[in-house]
Amino acid sequence: MTRIQVAIIGAGPAGLFLGHLLHRQGIAVTVLERRSRAHVEGRVRAGVLEQGTVDLLHALGLDQRLRHEGLVHEGTKLSIDGEIFHIDFRGLTGGATVTVYGQQELTRDLYDAAAAHGLPIVFEVEDVHLDDIESAHPTVSYRKDGTTRHLACDVIAGCDGFQGVSRKAIPAVAQKTFERAYDVGWLGILADVPPVDPELIYCRHADGFALASMRSPTRSRYYLQCAVDECVDAWPDDRFWDELCRRLGPQMADRVTRGPIFERSVVPLRSFVTEPMRHGRLFLAGDAAHIVPPTGAKGLNLAASDVMILARALVHFFKTGSESGLDGYSAQALARVWKAERFSWWFTGLTHRLPNMDAFARKMQSAELSYIRSSRAAQTTLAENYVGLPLDR
Ligand code: APR
Ligand code: PHB
Repeated sequence: MTRIQVAIIGAGPAGLFLGHLLHRQGIAVTVLERRSRAHVEGRVRAGVLEQGTVDLLHALGLDQRLRHEGLVHEGTKLSIDGEIFHIDFRGLTGGATVTVYGQQELTRDLYDAAAAHGLPIVFEVEDVHLDDIESAHPTVSYRKDGTTRHLACDVIAGCDGFQGVSRKAIPAVAQKTFERAYDVGWLGILADVPPVDPELIYCRHADGFALASMRSPTRSRYYLQCAVDECVDAWPDDRFWDELCRRLGPQMADRVTRGPIFERSVVPLRSFVTEPMRHGRLFLAGDAAHIVPPTGAKGLNLAASDVMILARALVHFFKTGSESGLDGYSAQALARVWKAERFSWWFTGLTHRLPNMDAFARKMQSAELSYIRSSRAAQTTLAENYVGLPLDR
């Protein structure tokens, strides 16, 4: 039985951020990841970092590539049935911006730093089990290369995403879950073509939502709203480019550079929260505890804010023995989670053609978009939520 202080389940953004934060404080951690490093790095996910996440990477000394390759965005564009207008983040929020930097790049930076700083990550583990989570001495067992191993620890951090084992280790009677299924998906693609615009463009169109994003000045990331069970094979390159141009509208369509699509994926849109984010000595963070539709680009940023709160609580616990931070973790994290859930749900309803929308709902959507277009107050609300609310608010 190996003795450590914190066992972290999952080496995605939440587990990696937390591992680095604790390891730097001299806390004995081990990160257990069921997939290979290459598999995790290969996952194409969102790519917008709030300033708080950028600041976290800077505080960890892990922002070298981000500072050189990240694209700072001072605003975004909305396309309403083809008419474009701009939301000025910097002007409306007193200077806040976001940074576009692909999660694959971020994950690579965090893995490279783990190797350089000696943060223990065990890849390709199997059969992870959490035991005695209601005691002060929980344990984690797992299999690696055919051998079962055991970790005795003080705390387990469940950073293993929506499909992980951590949330399932909490008795159902001790959990309350909240969920909204949108019955639509996003078909996302990557192509090595220059982005249609230097900013992101969120498109509301009668035939469905579209989003123009990017990974670099030479690599574009585009999304089309689709059926929740859409088959990527039904979208050859030409069909995708034609539909994207239709939804972007004529002003932007003329600027789209087409090219070979080398990555396609469909993700379902879902809102989900489990409360509390703690049971005994098990603490949930990131997608293990909550899911947002990608419209607001909040998933990665919520993982970062969860673990900043959790790391502060754990350092306090190990340095003083006081459990006050641990006792306050769930409520503090959830206060921010629910605000991001609300924004992501609202922004999704504002820009998508959802199956449950009747004619009245579409009129409400059009009226709200028209109001946003004409109101600085409404644009300020959108901007301050998009760039990220302060950690303590
Ligand atoms: N044992 C060990 N690792 C596991 C297990 C398990 N039983 N189950 C899942 N994992 C790993 C997954 O392979 C994944 O690498 O946990 C990790 C969870 O990472 P994410 O799903 O990325 O979740 P999180 O770290 O909370 O990041 C949330 O990043 O991936 C995006 O869409 C996500 O934007 C969101 C943000
Ligand atoms: C992305 O670039 O992948 C991206 C950007 C903004 C979003 C979602 C995804 O809201």
